[in-house]
Amino acid sequence: MDKNYYITTPIYYPSAKPHMGHAYSSIIADFFARFKKMDGFNVYFLTGTDEHGLKIQRAAEKQNIDTLEFCDQISQTFRNLSKTLNLTNTDFIRTTEERHKKTVQYLWKELEKNDYIYLSKYSGWYSVSDEAFYNDDEIETIDENKVAISSKSKVEWIEEESYFFRLSKWEKPLLDYYKSHPDFIAPESRRNEVISFVKSGLKDLSVSRKSFSWGIKVPNNNDHVIYVWLDALTNYLSALNFPNANDELFKNFWPASIHLIGKDILRFHAVYWPAFLLAAKIELPTKVYGHGWILSDNEKMSKSKGNILDPLEIIKEYGLDPLRYYLIKEVSFGNDGNISQERLEDCINSDLANNFGNLCQRVTAFAIKNCESKIPKQIDFQKEDLEILNKYMNNLENIREKIDNQDINFYIDYIINSLFEANKYFNDQEPWKKKDDQLRLNTIVYTTLEIVRKISFLLFPIIPNSSLKALKIFNLTEKDINFSSIENNDFLVKGSNINKIDILFKKIEKNND
Ligand code: ME8
Ligand code: MG
Repeated sequence: MDKNYYITTPIYYPSAKPHMGHAYSSIIADFFARFKKMDGFNVYFLTGTDEHGLKIQRAAEKQNIDTLEFCDQISQTFRNLSKTLNLTNTDFIRTTEERHKKTVQYLWKELEKNDYIYLSKYSGWYSVSDEAFYNDDEIETIDENKVAISSKSKVEWIEEESYFFRLSKWEKPLLDYYKSHPDFIAPESRRNEVISFVKSGLKDLSVSRKSFSWGIKVPNNNDHVIYVWLDALTNYLSALNFPNANDELFKNFWPASIHLIGKDILRFHAVYWPAFLLAAKIELPTKVYGHGWILSDNEKMSKSKGNILDPLEIIKEYGLDPLRYYLIKEVSFGNDGNISQERLEDCINSDLANNFGNLCQRVTAFAIKNCESKIPKQIDFQKEDLEILNKYMNNLENIREKIDNQDINFYIDYIINSLFEANKYFNDQEPWKKKDDQLRLNTIVYTTLEIVRKISFLLFPIIPNSSLKALKIFNLTEKDINFSSIENNDFLVKGSNINKIDILFKKIEKNND
């Protein structure tokens, strides 16, 4: 069985500092990476920054800074954010790195060798903000400005000599590929979007620019730089040191298991990227998942709209795990989702503090007082104990399958239901009334502690720090966490010490006036 898992986020433009949308993609990717790792996979998790092209060049010019220096600075803020978000990324790639340039130029030469590249002239609309070419029917006029209908970003007319990629040749092969690989594009609605776009006809794609210089040079024609998307997409290969023939990383991790992206860049990943790879005779990634947008006041967050939520400010105010939990839970995955501080606070109070935090505190305090601060030794499971414990059995395959279908909502609902059940079990069993029946009291405590242990494992990919804090009750650490063991009903070592833990989540005072 293939126990390698390669997951990528988009590489972000360091044209401005990161915002909540970037944090969202990265947190979701980290969730999958952590889940796979706790399920025994070797995980390669890649993120990074996309540093070439006119968008970046202009952003640097605006501030009067050398372009690379500008990239160094802002790329560093993305790298810092990865740390702040507690991401488990294996690598952080920058497209200005030498390792990346080599791969891009290699890929270009392969495409050229296979006769998929030719020199001609481009004239048409271009959006610097999207770094994308648009057809006449893809633009509209708003307040006398020509903008792209899909992104509302400004377009400008360009006319220059350009190399082209024979994208038109891939219309039929791509449609065949989508058909024979129904899971290649997800969710379903995005797949349909892509199929109808390709069906409407593909024109050859301009893949070089001559009028500016901030990019990777076209091999054998230094007047041109390679189109930033051909450059950027290749990061997924260059991080694995492709085409180094005896490279273990490439052998182990390509094809990527999943490119996680936002729906704004679906066309690049689900049409251009597979076409480039097919033309270069390189295997295609297994899946491209285009998630929805984080909205603020019902609009996509963007710099130009001025409705950006800063993840650092939210983390400072509420902490990292509440933000991770909130984003993973509240946005129905795949769709757009509005976020608000109000809802974030509700989540902290009800799910994290009342449901999870409270369960941990109650049972620990009770065990410290009534079981000599130890995991009870003498226990005798009754029907009601086994009933709740065994709910975690025979469910692993189902959960794995849901995760492989990116059904995050299922996963989180499963945890929330488990928490409700566990709290209800503890209440209904009333261990405080069993002080003259130590065996029964022990069994209730043991059962509840086992559930706390299982749920803390399940929560680890979502709220890693808090999960580890809870596991301190049992002196468990990260290396003890593994998904398969949630089936095990006597994982906890009987007779070992129970530790008191600090409050996991502070409730937020809300004034309702
Ligand atoms: O497009 N909601 O970079 P970018 C959810 N460099 N996700 C959002 C978001 C929002 N409001 N805003 C941004 C680029 N994102 C290229 C990618 S990949 C080879 C090159 C996330 O800085 C989402 O993942 O514009 C989106 O696809 C990505 O950031 C775009 O980041
Ligand atoms: Mg963008």
